[in-house]
Amino acid sequence: MASESIKIGIVGAGAMGAGIAQVAATAGHLVNVFDTSKEALAIARKSLKKLLSRLVEKKRLTDSESGHIFDRIVWVSTLKDLAGSNLVIEAIIENLEIKKKVFSELESLVNKDCILASNTSSLSIAAISSACSNKSRVMGIHFFNPAPLMPLVEIIPAIGTDNKLVDPIVELMKKWGKTPVRVKDTPGFIVNRIARPFYGEALRIYEEGWEGIEEGVVGFATIDWAMREIAGFKMGPFELMDYIGNDVNFAVTESVFTAFFYDPRYRPSITQKRYSESGWLGRKSLRGYYDYSENADQSNPVKDEKMGIKIVNRILSMLINEAVDAVYLRIASIDDIELAMTQGVNYPKGLLAWGKELGYDKVLEQINYLHRIYNEDRYRPSPLLVKWAKES
Ligand SMILES: NC(=O)c1ccc[n+]([C@@H]2O[C@H](COP(=O)([O-])OP(=O)(O)OC[C@H]3O[C@@H](n4cnc5c(N)ncnc54)[C@H](O)[C@@H]3O)[C@@H](O)[C@H]2O)c1
Repeated sequence: MASESIKIGIVGAGAMGAGIAQVAATAGHLVNVFDTSKEALAIARKSLKKLLSRLVEKKRLTDSESGHIFDRIVWVSTLKDLAGSNLVIEAIIENLEIKKKVFSELESLVNKDCILASNTSSLSIAAISSACSNKSRVMGIHFFNPAPLMPLVEIIPAIGTDNKLVDPIVELMKKWGKTPVRVKDTPGFIVNRIARPFYGEALRIYEEGWEGIEEGVVGFATIDWAMREIAGFKMGPFELMDYIGNDVNFAVTESVFTAFFYDPRYRPSITQKRYSESGWLGRKSLRGYYDYSENADQSNPVKDEKMGIKIVNRILSMLINEAVDAVYLRIASIDDIELAMTQGVNYPKGLLAWGKELGYDKVLEQINYLHRIYNEDRYRPSPLLVKWAKES
């Protein structure tokens, strides 16, 4: 089917809704965007205009392409205006009751073959779909922020979703220039689940104040230095948490932890909670683990190679264990897990390939070592890691 004949509806004109609308319009679709806030619609429309002119200035789009993209999006003032859509993507506030109300209303408005999707980051698709009498056409389509730039899209069929509807959505996302991966309806899906130790383990190392790592900014800078310079990540954990926002990152961790019935592997950190509570949110508040105000002192890492390797081994082993466990629990395929972590959060290598390269026996040794020291269930190796370690 040609793009023009597939009409897209978007509910929510915030950061994600507006970004997804831009992606769909760029792919040639007619897009109707609804938001309960007239102001949000006006802001989204104005920001899109500005963004498209910048793309024209940078010669990424011609004047006429930019005009077509802009004209394909209609900013509408009632949900009813989405009635003729073939696919509706909901990107409103992260609140289950409000989302359920929207899905129930949508179900009564749209044609019976219109697919209803949610861009939720942390709610279960099953819970959202419970608002619909026909659950077979409800699924998750999870974009990353900013949607026009981030290639990864997680496609999440729920228990009641008709699997026949998944392939066409995967194909559609490819046409939109995205990299779709399929994932089970489980907390954090792929990326927000597997990435947890990147933050959580770094925070634990900091809290423990390892010998040689002083309390405070030096500790953050040293851990960041190790993860950047030795492991090859684009940003260290603390720089990244400051970039994402400690409030946002903490909320994701807390929701994954709660959704996993308080599995200690995902336990949030008191340190991060305090930073968030005190308004030290990161870049957006000019203060997080680092000070972003003008003329602030830059903190220096302790560039101790031996210490750096210790830091990297601990965080990386926990990440690899998490990725292996996701394979074990059949959350997604090996290929999709590798794609998700390299394209969704720009990891320098897929974690499963990395585990193989380091030797799964070595990864297991590190996890078992941590388990011996702490005697906590947090440091339990995945049964599949144990198996792969034996085979390696
Ligand atoms: N921001 C991110 O990094 C990110 C990434 C991936 C997914 N998500 C998910 O996408 C969704 C939207 O997030 P966001 O960051 O764009 O939020 P946002 O706060 O920027 O925008 C939400 C918009 O929804 C509108 N809204 C609220 N209730 C509504 C209703 N009943 N009907 C219509 N519009 C309504 C609000 O007016 C607002 O404009 C959430 O589910 C979030 O979890 C966010």
